[in-house]
Amino acid sequence: MNSFVYDIPVKVYFGENQLGNLGKELAKYGKRVLLTYGGGSIKKIGLYDAVVEEVKNAGLELFELSGIEPNPRIDSVRKGAEICKKENIDVLLAVGGGSTLDATKFMAAGAFVDHDPWAFLSEWAPIAKALPIVTILTLSATGSEMDCGGVISNPETNDKIGRLAPPLLPKVSFLDPTVTYTVSPYQTACGSADMMSHIIEVYFNMNKDLYMLDCFMEGMMKTIIKYTPIAMKEPENYEARANLMWTSSWAINGFVNGGKQQEWTCHPIEHELSAYYDITHGLGLAIVTPRWMEYCLDETTVSKYVQFGVNVFGIDADLEPMEIAKKSIEMLSDFFFKTSGLKSTLTEIGIDETHFDIMSKKACENSVLMGFKPLNQQDIKKILQMCL
Ligand code: NZQ
Ligand code: ZN
Repeated sequence: MNSFVYDIPVKVYFGENQLGNLGKELAKYGKRVLLTYGGGSIKKIGLYDAVVEEVKNAGLELFELSGIEPNPRIDSVRKGAEICKKENIDVLLAVGGGSTLDATKFMAAGAFVDHDPWAFLSEWAPIAKALPIVTILTLSATGSEMDCGGVISNPETNDKIGRLAPPLLPKVSFLDPTVTYTVSPYQTACGSADMMSHIIEVYFNMNKDLYMLDCFMEGMMKTIIKYTPIAMKEPENYEARANLMWTSSWAINGFVNGGKQQEWTCHPIEHELSAYYDITHGLGLAIVTPRWMEYCLDETTVSKYVQFGVNVFGIDADLEPMEIAKKSIEMLSDFFFKTSGLKSTLTEIGIDETHFDIMSKKACENSVLMGFKPLNQQDIKKILQMCL
């Protein structure tokens, strides 16, 4: 067990009827607010009007940037950073899913530099400071509301790159499960696959860990498995939406890491799929994860699969370890592809081998991904082929 620092100072307003606190929270950071959002879902659900009213009632000045894409693009970040500079913005208010939140984070950092914001991703230019960010989350998935990360696409170079930096952490996040009632069954399923993957990337680890954290992660995975089909069938089921929303934040806010050091693997592989084919992040993860598990399974790793299968899916602990392991992969696949109804292969979503060489090279940065099992370019290519 390694030593670690845990420091996630995000103030969370969870639940219905919390928006009355928005004005006073924004006002702590200044008067000039840049509201950022996506393609318009926040207008359809009435959230836009409610937010504008709160901001105006607090006597703040509102600026807007809309049209942030799913798999947000660097051009949106550039536009936002320019507005921040030109209008002397004091605080950014991101209302939407992970894409809006992620793009807003890099706008907030871009406000302080003269260079192109893409350099934050492509060259890891320093992120020394960022304008304060307040978020209103509308889709449970990425955990961007409570982490300091973001992932941005550059269609010109077929890159999709993530970056963590403490100044990007939101100051305040509003998590109201009722605003996720309109999330489609498909996006709900993708969001759940994303959360599941955030946990799996950490849980599948052969280091001696904190038992407490393993139990916590198993509890979150059981929560996702229990509530995803309910939220898909009954979109306005508060209990289901609330459980998923809070899991979204805790799956990736650093708590479960507990000092464990290990690179993520399914995420870099999926980011290449999104970079080249602009697919939904959670869908790509659902397709990749079971194949990655299959690829990493051997006598040295089987014990982790047994723990997963028995504790999360309730598989009979008396079966042979390899049998439990294979059954656990099957049950996870069933959750993604049968219960959640996601497409199960890359072929079905129109992806073939064309770019596998370059994608697998970029996923491991031409080196080795030091994850649950170290994976080089050839390993990653084989996993992608298993997804066809
Ligand atoms: O753009 P609008 O009109 O808002 O519609 C969105 C979008 O079309 C819609 N939506 C959001 N809330 C809704 C809603 N529709 C109806 N009702 C609502 N309440 O859903 C669609 C997808 O939204 P998006 O923000 O793209 O989804 P998500 O939250 O899954 O974000 C995905 C992005 O986050 C990155 C992904 O790579 C991807 O680019 N990630 C960010 C992470 C982080 N910050 O830590 C970690 C993740 O692993 C992930 O990589
Ligand atoms: Zn993810």
